[in-house]
Amino acid sequence: MGKDVIVACDFASKEETLAFLDRFEGLSRKPFVKIGMELYYAEGPSIVREIKARGHKIFLDLKLHDIPNQVMKAMKVLSNLDIDMTNVHAAGTMPMMEAAIKGLTREDGTRPMLIAVTQLTSTGEEIMKRDLLIAESMENTVMHYAKNAKSAGLDGVVCSPIEAEKVHKTCGSEFVTVTPGVRFADGDKGDQVRVMTPEQAKLIGSDYIVVGRPITAAEDPVAAYERCVREFIDR
Ligand code: C5P
Repeated sequence: MGKDVIVACDFASKEETLAFLDRFEGLSRKPFVKIGMELYYAEGPSIVREIKARGHKIFLDLKLHDIPNQVMKAMKVLSNLDIDMTNVHAAGTMPMMEAAIKGLTREDGTRPMLIAVTQLTSTGEEIMKRDLLIAESMENTVMHYAKNAKSAGLDGVVCSPIEAEKVHKTCGSEFVTVTPGVRFADGDKGDQVRVMTPEQAKLIGSDYIVVGRPITAAEDPVAAYERCVREFIDR
């Protein structure tokens, strides 16, 4: 599995994003970039093309969740964008995830990686029980969603680093885990509650870590990125 550090470019505009990425020009390793809803809705597909043209891999984090036919059509559009990874909500059910795969697969049979969001890390077990009427534990729910995603043909899931090990045990080591909630041992947690260092995420077998503020808000973002790579990949 291609272990990598994905930098969450949670910026509001193209100017801010490109100015940030300019700092990484000249590095031998081009950061894998995550584009989220805010930036995509503000700038549209052109921001994807522009970042791709600079040689970055792209995770387009739009978390689709709609009726299967709509998701299939939306994924067909995204398949033309030359992205490397995108996602859906596993809560959209297996028919929706199967439709997503169908839409994302290009005529030549290739497609970007497709992963599923299990339960958002902002949803605690109590709220899941109260608002969603899911009586199972968080762990059982996440594992069930991961198994559904695997059966539907997806490549992996987004999950908290704490769940990554169990997901691999349940769905196999080839099933990819993408884990946000990463902080340096000496860093600020911000609003993330369940966090791990890049080194711990490596030890428990995360395939990709998604890192936002520890890199984007660092005094020296390039040094912070290189530290993540050192701790997560090189050591
Ligand atoms: O700044 P920070 O490192 O907390 O950013 C984490 C990134 O991962 C953000 O872009 C956030 O949207 C994303 N994410 C998350 N938890 C999830 C799914 C995505 O923090 N469950």
